[in-house]
Amino acid sequence: MPDAPNFLTVWKVDLNTTATPKPLSSLRAAPLKGRVRVPGDKSISHRALIFGALATGTTRITGLLEAEDVINTAKAVNALGALAEKRGDVWEVKGRGVGGLRSPDGPLDFGNSGTGARLMMGVVAGHSMTVVMTGDASLSRRPMRRVLAPLMEMGLEVLEPGQEKLPLTLRGTSELTPIVYVLPVPSAQVKSAVLIAGLHAAGETTVVEREPTRDHTERMLRHFGASVRTEAKGLDTHITVTGHAELVGRDVHVPGDPSSAAFLAAAALLVPGSDVTIEGVLTNPTRIGLYTTLQEMGGDITFLNEREEGGEPVADIRIRASRLKGVRVPAERAPSMIDEYPVLAAMSAFAEGQTQMDGLAELKVKESDRLQATAAGLEANGAVVRVDGDSLTVTGNGGLKGGGVVATHLDHRIAMAFLTAGLVSDKPIVVDDSTMIATSFPEFRQLMETLGARYDEPVAR
Ligand code: S3P
Repeated sequence: MPDAPNFLTVWKVDLNTTATPKPLSSLRAAPLKGRVRVPGDKSISHRALIFGALATGTTRITGLLEAEDVINTAKAVNALGALAEKRGDVWEVKGRGVGGLRSPDGPLDFGNSGTGARLMMGVVAGHSMTVVMTGDASLSRRPMRRVLAPLMEMGLEVLEPGQEKLPLTLRGTSELTPIVYVLPVPSAQVKSAVLIAGLHAAGETTVVEREPTRDHTERMLRHFGASVRTEAKGLDTHITVTGHAELVGRDVHVPGDPSSAAFLAAAALLVPGSDVTIEGVLTNPTRIGLYTTLQEMGGDITFLNEREEGGEPVADIRIRASRLKGVRVPAERAPSMIDEYPVLAAMSAFAEGQTQMDGLAELKVKESDRLQATAAGLEANGAVVRVDGDSLTVTGNGGLKGGGVVATHLDHRIAMAFLTAGLVSDKPIVVDDSTMIATSFPEFRQLMETLGARYDEPVAR
């Protein structure tokens, strides 16, 4: 057994998701100015730790996102016998090879993180071990059947028959059967869980995507030496991984998270006179639908110094305050901006005319029902909003009055979206809790303050 990991002594995070709620409001802002970096991409950070654990040798990760969700994944891979720890500025993962992890001594707690839990289900599926997986109140409400169904076809057992939400007891096997799986929902988490399980199966496992979703798993698996084929067949994409793979530890650089940068970009567009540059942001086309949409709305956004870092495209993004006009956001763009609808909807209240966002079914199963939470938060602050099936329409009406309290439902992106809108609303917008921002972007407030934003801590009721 490896030595006890020391990462908790070098990086202290409050993993207690039942912590007392901390309401927060943002104050009307003067122009935001500056050049900043946002923390590492959350999706890539989870994958770097997991593939490092499944590789032989050492993986060195720079720029890892040190937020609760990712720290929970680090704890999980350590509990499974890999060793992930921070040394200086670099996270090192000493892996055990594909199929080489060992049973954990206790439950694996993924906190708020759907990505951590679902990707690790793919790992557990390929090991003959029994694992209890748990999560916080938000994660325990989220659907797991979408991942369990294909993994059970491959050989995973759920020891609570019929149960489809955490907590779950899962029994994997070292003899997984490869499958061809057509994704019923556009989900990179489901795709990734099946591909990860496929690394352990005897033969080729194929995932068929109808709509392209983020492709970090495919890119990073190739970087670690796995054989991954991506083929266009008609309107579909077939992604095939060869089983009994051998992954070799690699260096990984994690670029800035475009989903975190979205809040800074939104603030810079909305606050008159702002001019902000965010350096080193991931610009993978499967992730930047929001930026395309904001450009269509008239946003002054420039991609500078475009380059490739560690197999992913990266740029510095300059954003200058702009008058926005409403647009229709097509359903097929949803997977490339799925985490950005709360902030886009909040911004739409400041645009001229209507913004209609289609194809939002997946928003209902995120850290909260984001369709409902976004609409309710906007209405509480004076916006004209309509939810019609899977579409959300916001009619710009000279901005937001503010003065309302937003129910965040343990959802970091709902909190950050409304704190951003509050920088330009007539009266402050209060979010009922800000503690969960630490799951993805612990530096949010401090970075925004660097640019000139100010916040207030109202006393909890
Ligand atoms: C993620 C995929 C998306 C996204 C989540 C991260 C990933 O979820 O919303 O924040 O890293 O694969 P779905 O796969 O459920 O769409």
